[in-house]
Amino acid sequence: MQEAVVMHAAPEMAAAEFARWQKLIEVRTGIHLPTHRKTFLQQALLTRMRELQQTDYNKYFVSLRDGAQAAIEWACLVDLLTVHETRFFRHPESYDLVRSFCRNLLQREPDSRQRSVQVWSVGCSTGEEVYSLAMLLQELQQETGPFYFGVTGTDISYPALASAREGIYHLRRLVGISEEQRATHFQALGDDYFQVVSPLRQRTCFVQGNVNDIRLAKQQMFDIIYCQNLLIYFQNDKRRELLNGLCEHLRPGGILVLAPGEVLRWQHPEMMRIDNKQCLAYSHRGDGRVAE
Ligand SMILES: C[S@@+](CC[C@H](N)C(=O)[O-])C[C@H]1O[C@@H](n2cnc3c(N)ncnc32)[C@H](O)[C@@H]1O
Repeated sequence: MQEAVVMHAAPEMAAAEFARWQKLIEVRTGIHLPTHRKTFLQQALLTRMRELQQTDYNKYFVSLRDGAQAAIEWACLVDLLTVHETRFFRHPESYDLVRSFCRNLLQREPDSRQRSVQVWSVGCSTGEEVYSLAMLLQELQQETGPFYFGVTGTDISYPALASAREGIYHLRRLVGISEEQRATHFQALGDDYFQVVSPLRQRTCFVQGNVNDIRLAKQQMFDIIYCQNLLIYFQNDKRRELLNGLCEHLRPGGILVLAPGEVLRWQHPEMMRIDNKQCLAYSHRGDGRVAE
C-alpha cells in the first residue's frame, strides 16, 4: 500500500528549477509566467502532485516529457495553470460594437439566404462569451430578419470546454443577463441552475485548441474574431505574433475585438483600428465594411 503524502505548503523551488518550468510552459502554451507568479506555479504543481502522491518537482517535470501519458498529464496541469475567470457580456461596449458591425454587414446583403455571420471566440473558457455572442445574434434577428450564424469557441483547457458544452450555469453566474434574456435563452433545471436552451447551443461549437499553434489551424474564416483577456498572459512580442496569426482567419471586412489595453502599438497592413474610445477593435480593410 502506498504511504499517504501529507503536504501543507509547496516545497520551495530553486531559481533554476523555476526557469525550467517557465520555459516549458512558454514553449508549449505561449503563456509567460513572470517571477512574481512563482508561488502560483508552485501551488498549481503542488495541487497536481498531491493527487499523484508525488513530492519531487523534477520527477514530475520528467513525467511530462513524452508519450501518451505525458500528454494526458500535461492537459491536467494546463487546466491548473490557466485562469478561467469570465462572465456573460463581460465588456458590454464590445458587444455593442459587434451588434453595430453585424447590422451593417447584414444590411449589405439583400438576399436573406446568403446572410450569415461566423464568430470565433478565442480563449472562451467556460462558454459565457460564446453564449453572449450567440444571444446577441439571435436577438438581432428581430431587427434584421433571419440570417444564419455560428459561434465557435476554442480554449486550451479541456475541463473548461466540457463545462462550456453543457451550458449549465448557477443563477449567481447569470449576472449581466436580463430577466427577459433568462426567460428566452435559458431553461431552469432546478436548484437555481439554468441551461442555455438547445436551439442556441446548436448554434455553437467548442473545440480544444492552443492559440500558440494557430498557424497550424484549419484555414477557417470568420467575420468576427473575439479575443478578450487571453493576450494578457503572453509577452508583448508574442501578443503581436498571435494577432498576426488571428488576422489570417478574418474575412475581408471582418473585425477583431480585443479587451481594452490588451495590446499596444500593434500594426498590421490589412487591419485598421476602429475609432471607438471604449473598445479595442480592428477592422480588416478588405471590402470596406466598417463598424460604427
Ligand atoms: C481569463 S479567461 C478569458 C475568458 C473570456 N475570453 C473572457 O474574456 O471572459 C482566459 C482563457 O484563455 C485560455 N487560454 C490560456 N492560454 C491559452 C492558449 N495558449 N490557447 C488557448 N486558450 C488559452 C484559458 O484556459 C482561459 O479559459
